[in-house]
This record gives sequence, C-alpha cells and structure tokens, in this order.
Amino acid sequence: DLIRDSNGNLIKVKINNTNASAEIYMFGATLTSWVVNGQERLFLSKKAILNGTKAIRGGIPIVFPQFNTKLTTDLPSHGFARITTWKWGGININTPDRKEVSFILTDKEVNKKYLEIWPHQFKLVYTVLLDGKSLSTSLRIKNTGNEPWLFNTLLHTYFNVDDLTEAGVNGLINCNYIDTSPEGNGEKKIEDRQKIVFQKEVDSIYYDVNQKNFKLQTGFKNDIMVEKCTLPDVVVWNPWIEKSKRMADFGEESYPHMFCFEVGSVYQPIELDVDAVYEGGQVLTVV
Ligand code: BG6
Repeated sequence: DLIRDSNGNLIKVKINNTNASAEIYMFGATLTSWVVNGQERLFLSKKAILNGTKAIRGGIPIVFPQFNTKLTTDLPSHGFARITTWKWGGININTPDRKEVSFILTDKEVNKKYLEIWPHQFKLVYTVLLDGKSLSTSLRIKNTGNEPWLFNTLLHTYFNVDDLTEAGVNGLINCNYIDTSPEGNGEKKIEDRQKIVFQKEVDSIYYDVNQKNFKLQTGFKNDIMVEKCTLPDVVVWNPWIEKSKRMADFGEESYPHMFCFEVGSVYQPIELDVDAVYEGGQVLTVV
C-alpha cells in the first residue's frame, strides 16, 4: 500500500506477505514496523516525531554519511540520510511470500546546507525484502561524483523488548570494542561474555567483527537471528535511565522496552572511489 497525504505526497509504504508486514516512511526511508505472526519486533517510541521535523526515534533509521560526529561536528549527528525524504524506487518482487521494495536518495534530495559541508555526489538505493519470517534491509552506496569521498553508515535498528531482564545479544564474544558508556570512558576492551545483557547504560562499538551471525533475545518467545552482510562493525546500545531523560522523543519509561543492535561501518570511515559501489546490510529472521 502507498499511503499519501491530502496533497498526494507519498508518506509511507506498507508491505506484507503471508507471515509478516512492514512499514517504511519516505522520511529517512525509516522502517518503523516489522510484525511477524502478529508480534511487533521493532521498537518505535510513543513520542517519536513522524512529521519529518526530526529523525524518527525507533525502527531502523539509516545513518549516512557519518556516525555520531565522526567526520565533522558541522553535519548533523548520524548524518542527513535519516532526516531527508527519499524517493520511491518501486516494487521489485511481489509474490505472496516475498515482497521487495526500494527507496532512493541522491545528493539532489539533500538540503544544500549539508552539501556545503559534505560536498559530494552520491546515490543510495535502500532495498527492503520481506521473505517469510525474514526481513532484509540493504544499502547500496555509489559515488556518482568526480572525486573519492569518505563515509560511515549504520542500520540503527531498535528492537522491541518484552522483558529486558531476559534480553541479550549473543555472538560477539572475543570481539574488540570501545566502551563509550559513561562508565566505560571510551576504553578499548575485549568482549568476554557469551551473552551481553542490559543492566546499566550500554554503548559499545564492536569493530572489525568477523562473526556474521548473532542471536538476539528480547524476552518474546522467538529469538531473532541477525546476519550481518559485508559491514565490519556492530553497535549495541541501551540508554538506560539518565540518557533516556535527555531524549525528549524517547520517554524515560521506554528504556526497558528496547535495545539497539546496529550493523554498520562506523569505526573507520570507508573511502569510496569515483563510480565505486559499496553494498552492505542485514537479514533479520524470527526463529
Ligand atoms: C547510538 C550511539 O548508535 O545512537 C549512541 O552509539 C547514541 O551514543 C544513539 O546516543 C542515538 O543517537 P541519536 O542521535 O539518534 O539520539
């Protein structure tokens, strides 16, 4: 379904297959809902602002071309892709079990004030595939300009949590990470836990992660497997109490109902040559 406003502008796209459904806003190409067998698997804040004036708090915001303020403090934190309205790329696959749609963003859609700071030409194609109980989201990044440029990218996925005391992330043991939580002080560490749990603020950047498959426990009956495709890094985040209070669109009561497990390239920026293409993404599967 294509949902339009009273002026005929496309606002969001809804897709479904036999088991599942998903909703994607044109603003940021932010996927805000993924329901499998009647259960919502993504977290969307009740206070999320959905009118295009702020990045959507929840779902899968797309971070590009920078993570936090890694390239420059003059660009918005986490870049401009999540705060720009994308173009509709159309339906690629349409069978009862498989639905695939795509969204496009080029420098032409981006506010000029950001391109003064990051003066490059690019084309992003974001593809969303519902396949049975799997959701694939992948990003194809092309340098359409005439000089190389640097970027970070991240699929900033907010998972819906039923019981945070049972929640956890499995599969990052032995990985290197930077603990950017207040307690962690930016220290470099090696993960020694089979299961990463949430008992305080967690903000960890795992870098050069060789593992590709991760199991997420969210307190709901079925776990979620994440397959990381191409991308080198993983961010695990729960803001806990104090940081929640500082985010007006989050709500301090929300932190026990979510965590973020984010695949991307955030540790080192990637250099993309003229005409080169970088492709990365994730496959989420309810098991
Ligand atoms: C995470 C970062 O990826 O995003 C956190 O590791 C940050 O430090 C979080 O707080 C949310 O960022 P924002 O810009 O959406 O509030």
